[in-house]
Amino acid sequence: MQQLIRGRVLDFHADPAETEDNHRYLEDGAILIEDGRIVAVDDYAALARPGLAETDHRPNLILPGFIDPHIHFPQVQVIASWGAQLLDWLNTYTFPEEARFADPDHATRMAGLFLDQLTAHGTTTAVAFCSVHATSAEALFAAAEARDMAMVAGKVLMDRNALPAVQDTPQQGYDDSKRLIETWHGRGRQRYAITPRFAITSTPEQMEATGALVREHPDCHVQTHLSENLAEIDYTLSLYPKARDYLDIYESYGLLSDRLLLGHCIHLRDREIARMAETGSRAVFCPTSNLFLGSGLFDEAGLRAAGVVSGIATDVGGGTSYSMLQTLNEGYKILQLRGQKLHPLTAFHWATRGNARALGMEDRIGTLAPGSDADLVVLDARATPAMALRAERAATLAEELFILQIMGDDRAVAQTYVAGKPMKPAH
Ligand code: GUN
Ligand code: ZN
Repeated sequence: MQQLIRGRVLDFHADPAETEDNHRYLEDGAILIEDGRIVAVDDYAALARPGLAETDHRPNLILPGFIDPHIHFPQVQVIASWGAQLLDWLNTYTFPEEARFADPDHATRMAGLFLDQLTAHGTTTAVAFCSVHATSAEALFAAAEARDMAMVAGKVLMDRNALPAVQDTPQQGYDDSKRLIETWHGRGRQRYAITPRFAITSTPEQMEATGALVREHPDCHVQTHLSENLAEIDYTLSLYPKARDYLDIYESYGLLSDRLLLGHCIHLRDREIARMAETGSRAVFCPTSNLFLGSGLFDEAGLRAAGVVSGIATDVGGGTSYSMLQTLNEGYKILQLRGQKLHPLTAFHWATRGNARALGMEDRIGTLAPGSDADLVVLDARATPAMALRAERAATLAEELFILQIMGDDRAVAQTYVAGKPMKPAH
């Protein structure tokens, strides 16, 4: 069955920070969808025909659904925990909370609520860390599959420096990951990410086993954390005294490639930046988290100039909002403190096609190209009285987008479509 979704349509075919011809905007546009995929995008008049089911979202904007390339599923009840920086935040709040995900009933309940939060905020794909328990990954994949939602996720590998209740062993972590990959990787829209939490919580033996998983499953993503916090870096280097720098630990176990997503990447040395560029390893900027945990200021322009591809993500529950709009807002402010500028077109490209490219998934998500999955977000720049007041004076698309970027959150998400299906009740 075909359906037509009408509105002001916007998507990107290039990065506005690099290319002048970068987006398509249709003032009265429409998206033709069949079986969860995009068939065509054009002016409404060119696609409308009698008998075709239609949903009219005018005057709202329709974009590809947001992609969140770094988020922690078992931290839905950790978000907004007071007073700590990374290492004590993990020990005080995060590890005890993640221990609860050994219980499959808890994991299942939280998985549904987590995905509800994502779609309420306009996010249609996330790259998620689960807890150490295979049950947590099972629960998340099952909930995502039931919604036909594209998830990239993995159980964390962690065998030291944490509560026993959130530790595995090199063998157990390897076996559980292997079984989860065999069950879920490439099943429908689900993909597996091999997930060593970070070097502090993995022994060299576990890093060896992780390297084996990566060699055996080269098309899986790999996700971890790098250089978020100065105390973290000191501790990490004391645990791996032979490493030239933090990245060298991951490098020495064969983890570097364009499938590797490195959360944070704040306090990098020149050699690390050069090796990330050479190997295509991705940096993931997590602005609300970096401010909340007092971690530091990401150098977007420096990494770009060096040829490193970056994504932008929420990092809930170190991050403080599920909203990619709020993430772009805080990202704008961090770059201000760096003397850098995040233009609204660049920002919306980043949260859609940019993040899809960081994942190597732009053939299926992040744009409205024919053949892409029909994952969409519908945005209302007049969603609140304050936004409506400001929008009275917005003359251009870029100004409207900037209002959404700075003032928007889930209230500005009028609808979210996952594989062509609306996730919010229509009003
Ligand atoms: N580094 C290792 N684990 C975590 C985590 O859960 N959150 C953040 N922000 N950093 C980490
Ligand atoms: Zn994280």
